[in-house]
Amino acid sequence: MRSSTIILFIINFVIAVQCVHYEPNWKSLDARPLPKWYDQAKIGVFIHFGLFSVPSYVSEWFWDFWRDPSSPYVWQHAQLLRFMRDNFKPNFTYADFGNNFQAEFFNATHWAEVIKKSGARYTVLTTKHHEGFTLWPSSYSFQWNSMALGPKRDIVGEFSAAIRKIGNIHLGLYYSLFEWFHPLYLRDMEHNYTTHEYVRLKARPELEELINTYLPDLLWSDGDAVYNDTYWNSTDILAWLYNDSPVKDVIVTNDRWGTNCHNKHGGFFDGPDRNNPDSLPKHKWESAISVDQFAWGYRREASLDQLLTIDELIHQLLKTISFGGNFLVNAGPSKDGRIMPIFEERLSQLGEWLEINGDAIYESQIYEKCQISKNNQTFYTMKSDAIYGITLEWPHEGSLEFECIDYNDVDQVTMLGSSESIKFGPGSNGTLVKFPKWIPGDTLKYAYSFKFHV
Ligand SMILES: *[C@@H]1O[C@H](CO)[C@@H](O)[C@H](O)[C@H]1NC(C)=O
Ligand SMILES: *[C@@H]1O[C@H](CO)[C@@H](O)[C@H](O)[C@H]1NC(C)=O
Ligand SMILES: *[C@@H]1O[C@H](CO)[C@@H](O)[C@H](O)[C@H]1NC(C)=O
Ligand SMILES: *[C@@H]1O[C@H](CO)[C@@H](O)[C@H](O)[C@H]1NC(C)=O
Ligand SMILES: *[C@@H]1O[C@H](CO)[C@@H](O)[C@H](O)[C@H]1NC(C)=O
Ligand SMILES: *[C@@H]1O[C@H](CO)[C@@H](O)[C@H](O)[C@H]1NC(C)=O
Ligand SMILES: *[C@@H]1O[C@H](CO)[C@@H](O)[C@H](O)[C@H]1NC(C)=O
Repeated sequence: MRSSTIILFIINFVIAVQCVHYEPNWKSLDARPLPKWYDQAKIGVFIHFGLFSVPSYVSEWFWDFWRDPSSPYVWQHAQLLRFMRDNFKPNFTYADFGNNFQAEFFNATHWAEVIKKSGARYTVLTTKHHEGFTLWPSSYSFQWNSMALGPKRDIVGEFSAAIRKIGNIHLGLYYSLFEWFHPLYLRDMEHNYTTHEYVRLKARPELEELINTYLPDLLWSDGDAVYNDTYWNSTDILAWLYNDSPVKDVIVTNDRWGTNCHNKHGGFFDGPDRNNPDSLPKHKWESAISVDQFAWGYRREASLDQLLTIDELIHQLLKTISFGGNFLVNAGPSKDGRIMPIFEERLSQLGEWLEINGDAIYESQIYEKCQISKNNQTFYTMKSDAIYGITLEWPHEGSLEFECIDYNDVDQVTMLGSSESIKFGPGSNGTLVKFPKWIPGDTLKYAYSFKFHV
């Protein structure tokens, strides 16, 4: 072939690949391969920020808990009625919190640095939670956005730019489909979701504006669970996202596209909040988990024992990664825009651990043979040339059996973060590994990774 023919051939091939066209039905949409970056990234930081960060009390569901008398959250409803009566003038509205939302210390560059230091390779920001208040000057959210009310800043814009600038972190944007009190939404609800005015005039065009303006790599959909995908017109949104949007080749999304979609349709599967399956899922999934066990938004009354310790976080991370999941860990900044030191500390502890042990985590694959030891203390991942055994224990006896690894397969064992040569031998049914000498104050902590070269 002459070189021009080869070039023509390549061009045709590229066009053929790019021209995959998705139809607005699940069969077609679910066949789209998940862009590779997502599975490789493994670790993300979730940020819940919004008008709810102003009262920062009980939950980011503050407005609904307070104002919805039919809310099943009876305790929270009573608590917030009391809180408002005791601390605010009569007739104070939720919108009045807007004046108190200054985000005066919000520094997107600093947030990006904190996220980077956590070892995260992606991040997800709430651009609009169920309250409907957008953190960007949405043309579909008149007077109910962070440019018109509160900080008078484009929080999403500043955040996106800072994340791009710092590099090697994929930008994810969270968007709530429903809004508790949007008049059009309430009307559709009264019509038992047989009308679609809210979706047609608000959610759909607003979501397109968000995507077209900030070009995220990940769209984290939420607030779908009031009705099925027919109401949300979800397949049509996704067909646009995958065929025609400016991010069609990189965009990754989740499964929150209607009550009938969870763990079934979309991109990766989020399942429920704090997703924690006990057996190996068949589809790429994510565990979204908050450092504050009781809320995603900042909660001033949170006590130390309600926050996950770094050991608990690492444990959950290992269970998630060995089962093929991604780990998305959440912190809620305060209304003035600070990621409070306790959350920053957790994230940086995570980063310190990943700095040493990241080789066993990033870009790893499921070790199909066995993911967790019987006592739930040791976890396994793999790459093409190695199996990783990561254990929460530092054995008193000085050695530990990695029961899922066949001694006959192992050429050499190294420990991540240690330069000592690691001795190993056959166990009762696995590989027995002699730990190096414990060095107090060493960088080795929380969990210990051994690389079995095979
Ligand atoms: C609260 O609103 C009600 C109804 O609009 C009004 O009658 C009342 O005077 C208001 N109370 C105060 C303290 O402003
Ligand atoms: C924002 O944070 C960055 C990084 O921490 C710092 O260099 C910069 O001075 C901060 N900007 C302001 C206005 O404080
Ligand atoms: C919505 O459904 C309820 C219960 O099935 C029914 O009573 C009501 O008439 C319906 N409303 C409309 C507008 O269809
Ligand atoms: C979704 O709801 C609509 C309207 O009630 C119904 O016709 C449709 O069958 C539902 N779809 C699924 C997948 O349940
Ligand atoms: C879904 O979106 C398509 C394309 O925008 C539109 O033609 C259709 O009417 C929408 N369906 C509903 C139920 O809103
Ligand atoms: C390990 O975890 C599984 C699933 O959570 C549980 O059923 C089992 O009892 C645990 N085993 C031990 C020894 O704790
Ligand atoms: C030996 O380990 C393998 C997994 O590596 C397991 O399937 C098997 O049941 C174990 N045998 C015994 C006797 O424990």
